[in-house]
Amino acid sequence: MKISPSILDADFLHLQGEVDSIGNADRIHLDIMDGKYVPSTTIRASDLLNIAFPIETEAHLMCDNPETFFKEFVDLGVKGITFHIENTGEKEALRLLKELKEKGIRGGICIDGYTEPDTLSDDVLHTAGQILVMSVKAGKGGQSFMTESLDKIMTLRERGYEGEIEVDGGINLDNVKLLREAGADIVVVGSFVMKKPTEERCKVIEKFQKV
Ligand code: DX5
Ligand code: ZN
Repeated sequence: MKISPSILDADFLHLQGEVDSIGNADRIHLDIMDGKYVPSTTIRASDLLNIAFPIETEAHLMCDNPETFFKEFVDLGVKGITFHIENTGEKEALRLLKELKEKGIRGGICIDGYTEPDTLSDDVLHTAGQILVMSVKAGKGGQSFMTESLDKIMTLRERGYEGEIEVDGGINLDNVKLLREAGADIVVVGSFVMKKPTEERCKVIEKFQKV
């Protein structure tokens, strides 16, 4: 399984060391919250300009009007940008996915923990460069894994979606195998990696990659 550690709960006073400590992962996941779609607010791209990321990054926008954040993250150099269908609806989602594709960015569509996969039309499935299935309600790290996400992944595969499925929230070494079997390609892991001491993180990441 590929792994994209989330730096949502990282130590932002020592962020360079934090990202260096997870340099053997497949990607680094940047959770962006605007205080509107979810109550919390987080970093913006401007807070990351001095960080040298050791591996590619992706931005997960939990924000109203997600397109207003595109430019700053494209300029930061992210390879993927994911936004929520709950924020855009179908028509706008299709437009934004195409816009990201034209910019050479992997455009992902996310369904929140309480959203059903049939919210995503076949058109959206055909256009999305990635689907992000949340296995918690968006908004904070450290929540419990929602097992419903396993059925959602299987439903998307049964509908013929062959692109990348990423899963985000409450993931640990006990449930990652179930996610693999359901058809996920990559997991976002926050607290299970970032609450470990820096020197232990690479080993934990390797364990995910062996599943
Ligand atoms: C939640 C974020 C997640 C979260 C994952 O809104 O999108 O990426 O930080 O953290 P854990 O693994 O602790 O659930
Ligand atoms: Zn996330």
